[in-house]
Amino acid sequence: MFIESFKVESPNVKYTESEIHSVYNYQTTDLVHENRNGTYQWIVKPKTVKYEFKTDTRVPKLGVMLVGWGGNNGSTLTGGVIANREGISWATKDKVQQANYFGSLTQASTIRVGSFNGEEIHAPFKSLLPMVNPDDIVFGGWDISDLNLADAMARAKISLLPIKGHVPTTVIKGTTKEQVQQIIKDIREFKEVNKVDKVVVLWTANTERYSNVIVGLNDTMENLLASVEKNEAEISPSTLYAIACVLENIPFINGSPQNTFVPGLIDLAIKRNSLIGGDDFKSGQTKMKSVLVDFLVGAGIKPTSIVSYNHLGNNDGMNLSAPQTFRSKEISKSNVVDDMVSSNAILYEPGEHPDHVVVIKYVPYVGDSKRAMDDTRIQLKAEGEDKFHSFHPVATILSYLTKAPLVPPGTPVVNALAKQRAMLENIMRACVGLAPENNMILEYK
Ligand SMILES: NC(=O)c1ccc[n+]([C@@H]2O[C@H](COP(=O)([O-])OP(=O)(O)OC[C@H]3O[C@@H](n4cnc5c(N)ncnc54)[C@H](O)[C@@H]3O)[C@@H](O)[C@H]2O)c1
Repeated sequence: MFIESFKVESPNVKYTESEIHSVYNYQTTDLVHENRNGTYQWIVKPKTVKYEFKTDTRVPKLGVMLVGWGGNNGSTLTGGVIANREGISWATKDKVQQANYFGSLTQASTIRVGSFNGEEIHAPFKSLLPMVNPDDIVFGGWDISDLNLADAMARAKISLLPIKGHVPTTVIKGTTKEQVQQIIKDIREFKEVNKVDKVVVLWTANTERYSNVIVGLNDTMENLLASVEKNEAEISPSTLYAIACVLENIPFINGSPQNTFVPGLIDLAIKRNSLIGGDDFKSGQTKMKSVLVDFLVGAGIKPTSIVSYNHLGNNDGMNLSAPQTFRSKEISKSNVVDDMVSSNAILYEPGEHPDHVVVIKYVPYVGDSKRAMDDTRIQLKAEGEDKFHSFHPVATILSYLTKAPLVPPGTPVVNALAKQRAMLENIMRACVGLAPENNMILEYK
């Protein structure tokens, strides 16, 4: 059975006008390697840590600014949202297609809530916590190309003919410092004109080459900011956008594979407690690959070679045919099975890896398709901490959405897709005091 919404009733959960407050017992383990009676043993000690979550239930009016707005991703996302908002339908060769959000984790997937009279009850993922309705997002952004939105969508092969609009051409000029200032000015103006409460910026412009990470240039916050002052050419456009966003405390997500988040930028984001997430949107092939490898390694089967071919016929594909940008993509695509491989020392020797080859070929005939993402308003506090704080500014929680998840130093990277989805779902469940979905269904045993 399917229900549209639900409310949790528990001594651990309190709903107020503007907040959901939940007390949550996080069950985890401590490991110690101890010498007991002359032999070393691993001792595992289950422990429970009490957390409190505080979720602001007031949904902001959200603006999303896309760098590369007129590209495939930018125009598809904008066109898709407009089509849903306006209830647009169009004729395909088989039927009349009504706009929908199929393919969106929050809008089109479900969670299990429990069982009722022996029947499993599911609800929309978006019913877990109050979330922005994508129909209400105001879009804006930048693009160096002068295609209008309708032509951009035609280039991206989106069949939404009734939509017209213009993406302003914005070639930001000047020194690196002037460029950062211009981006900040654009964000402020966008916020003001559209009366939005919050803005999220996504880099969905073309893949850049890797920046050289050089001591004294971009290795620390101080050096990075000094390099911007000195107009250093090695600071990439995407890093300039990220700097502007962090300085404005605007969440910035890097949808491309290059190392926008040089160490100095991560340092800046942590010191300013401003959210960054990345790298490289994960939509089709990488998802399939990580799911398959997770399944095989989980079944005790050893993948020894993974060779993936990408035939891209769009502007992205043409851009990736340059060796330096291909290298950025190759790195982000190659890391996606790391945690699964390192989780199984029965199959893999220490340091052993499947022979993993990534091939991207530009084939003009071939088309393209893509996805979108969101921001959270949650604060938490572990037992012993005196103040609520937001999640770490490096947004591990967005791992599901990116190929090469950016994590804070010392945090394990989760590549397995099912685990990444469980992370997202279970954190949101915790916010309303629901236990993680464990699939044990003991009530039927
Ligand atoms: N399409 C997908 O499924 C997918 C999946 C994962 C990652 N990505 C990555 O997302 C990025 C965008 O993909 P796409 O298919 O939309 O590409 P695209 O080539 O269609 O669009 C990129 C847009 O960025 C603009 N642009 C380039 N440099 C810019 C700059 N410095 N400032 C502002 N605008 C700039 C271009 O004019 C273009 O309109 C690429 O890096 C791609 O590798 C795409």
